[in-house]
Amino acid sequence: MLIRSRDPGFVHPHPGDVTPRAVYEDRRAWLRLMAGGAAGAALPGWAARDARAQAPAAARPGKLAPLPGARSAVPGAVTMEKPTDHKDASSYNNFYEFGTDKSAPARQAHTLRTAPWSVEVEGLVGKPGRWALEDLLKLAPMEERLYRLRCVEGWSMVIPWVGYSLVGLIRRVEPLGSARYVEFVTLADPKQMPGLRSGVLDWPYTEALRLDEALHPLTLLAFGMYGEVLPNQNGAPVRIVVPWKYGFKSAKSIVKIRFTEKEPRTAWNKAARHEYGFYSNVNPEVDHPRWSQATERRIGEDGLFAKKRKTLMFNGYEAQVGQLYAGMDLKKFY
Ligand code: MTE
Repeated sequence: MLIRSRDPGFVHPHPGDVTPRAVYEDRRAWLRLMAGGAAGAALPGWAARDARAQAPAAARPGKLAPLPGARSAVPGAVTMEKPTDHKDASSYNNFYEFGTDKSAPARQAHTLRTAPWSVEVEGLVGKPGRWALEDLLKLAPMEERLYRLRCVEGWSMVIPWVGYSLVGLIRRVEPLGSARYVEFVTLADPKQMPGLRSGVLDWPYTEALRLDEALHPLTLLAFGMYGEVLPNQNGAPVRIVVPWKYGFKSAKSIVKIRFTEKEPRTAWNKAARHEYGFYSNVNPEVDHPRWSQATERRIGEDGLFAKKRKTLMFNGYEAQVGQLYAGMDLKKFY
């Protein structure tokens, strides 16, 4: 993200995209897990939703364990735009722990071990503790959210995520009055993640939100996409998705959530302070120091004559989140 690939063009899926056996077997363990848990509470599946005019591109690809979700009722959570092809969403990725090339995560992330997995909650909360993935999956009903994802590099996708509002977890851990920020720490294991050998970021990859941003119902704790559990390259088994901010705010494969009083430093802010601010709200009027943010290229609309799209304020979620920033100078707090 930092230097070379402003717009390297769509990279076709690599043969390595085919799920290796070990990963597949891992997924079968998931499937067994979910038969007794979250998925057991069977909500209407993809077939039913397809009948309700969901674009066929979002159909469940059938590669991984199913993770259905009921269509979200959160205002703004389901865009009417056409979902990006699953193939593109799972083969054109930023996950630097598996390499800086867009096609590297799909090729290399099969080494990520997603079970057992837990997320530690610590810091300024009344109920700190470790949450096993199984318990997180059962904490709230799974919802399907069709969000735009706008990467700071100038491309975007529309992805049907499956998860629930992070606020569901936050309420359960009872933040103290002094908590003002929420930090997300992601896995950093050199044995599983070849990209950690590179010094491009100060590992682990961390991100953070102001507490009121984290409490906003659009902030999603995601476990799946396209009706299935997350592919490793998209941040399995659990990640954050914050649709009104540049994609790098949406940390993948999280292992810790920490509540703090002081604004946490974040991985990209540490790497290039003047380029990647703490807020990083999508804003067509505030350019990146090295390129304009006024337009974007929608993945799947590539081609010589494909028009760029106009980038929308807060990525199109202004009606829902604009009030969080009332009175703030968004050029200063970029
Ligand atoms: N999370 C981790 N742990 N490591 C990363 O390199 N890249 C970020 C974000 N989360 C990243 C990460 C960036 S730059 C983007 S654009 C999104 O993930 C991409 O998510 P996707 O590959 O699922 O589209």
